[in-house]
Amino acid sequence: MSTCDNLRPVKTSLTGIKPTHLPHLGNYLGAIRPALSLVEHYRTLYFIADYHALTTVRDADALRGYVRDVAATWLACGLDPDRTLLYRQSDVPEVFELTWVLSCLLATGQLERGHAYKDALARGESPNAGIFNYPILMAADILLYDTDVVPIGKDQKQHLELTRDVAARLNHLYGEGTLVVPEARISNAPLVPGTDGEKMSKSKGNGIPLFEPPKKLRKVIMGIKTTSEALEDPKTAEGSTVYELYRLIAPDRAPEMEQKLEAGGYGWGHAKEDLFEAIEAEIEPKREAYLAIRADEDGLDAILHAGAERARAIAHRTIGRVRSAVGIE
Ligand code: ADP
Ligand code: TRP
Repeated sequence: MSTCDNLRPVKTSLTGIKPTHLPHLGNYLGAIRPALSLVEHYRTLYFIADYHALTTVRDADALRGYVRDVAATWLACGLDPDRTLLYRQSDVPEVFELTWVLSCLLATGQLERGHAYKDALARGESPNAGIFNYPILMAADILLYDTDVVPIGKDQKQHLELTRDVAARLNHLYGEGTLVVPEARISNAPLVPGTDGEKMSKSKGNGIPLFEPPKKLRKVIMGIKTTSEALEDPKTAEGSTVYELYRLIAPDRAPEMEQKLEAGGYGWGHAKEDLFEAIEAEIEPKREAYLAIRADEDGLDAILHAGAERARAIAHRTIGRVRSAVGIE
């Protein structure tokens, strides 16, 4: 490392996780694992976006449960709350103050062009105002913590553009440097297929559970759709759900599975058995940790509260800067 690298200040990366369901293997491979690797290069903040979940979740007990399920999942997957900041969005109410200030700088037309809002209208729904305003709350989530980098999927790109626009506008009107203008880091994580070969998604019922007991996991894996060649026939690995999942979970051993499938005499049942074992090897220790962490709700809440206290200290400074810039104090 050069002297120059040593002098470069550490950048802040922030990740928001919407607690709307129990995480599945697609969330783990596509979001959790890549996001946790950022700890090596950034000062990291991870928060559970429970106010965002409120746009769709209508069951209070379910929401409380999802917040803890998601927090316990990230902790079990290796999030170290001493090295990073983990908190619940609703524990830092300053986010609403910033949301209001930002909303006064945004044209309604910009929100009317929002993908989520437009898609809901196109489906003939009458979206609630939370869905309309969702991007402003997300901008406040990001700007409140002087975030430099936001790792996101392609679907969130428009939200980041709006965040950058509004931050630059506030700085232009009230003073450069009031807010940090963040950059998006668009994920190149692969799309994880579900049991039917389509993108794994909670809403499609094609999910592979992350922390269900091994017996249940095995049953789901045995149910993955395959073609129906005879055992001795050669099979095409590439593009098959079983092989694509194996390649994501055990890349080093994937060429061996490919060879076996293409040689014939190795059936989809064998491949599913190997896939089950590879997934089990990856998640078994995490499952143990998850069950212990999830069972200790007081311990879990204490971790979230400690994270919120540290987060509030940062939020407080930003809000102070914004208030005096706009003339509120
Ligand atoms: P779902 O699509 O099941 O409702 P979410 O929208 O809650 O999942 O996704 C949470 C995170 O997990 C997002 O960053 C998303 O990009 C990622 N993710 C979800 N499903 C997949 C998948 N099948 N492959 C890769 N990443 C995924
Ligand atoms: N909108 C994001 C999603 O649907 C969740 C989110 C809320 C978020 N606030 C954020 C992501 C801030 C990154 C930064 O997945």
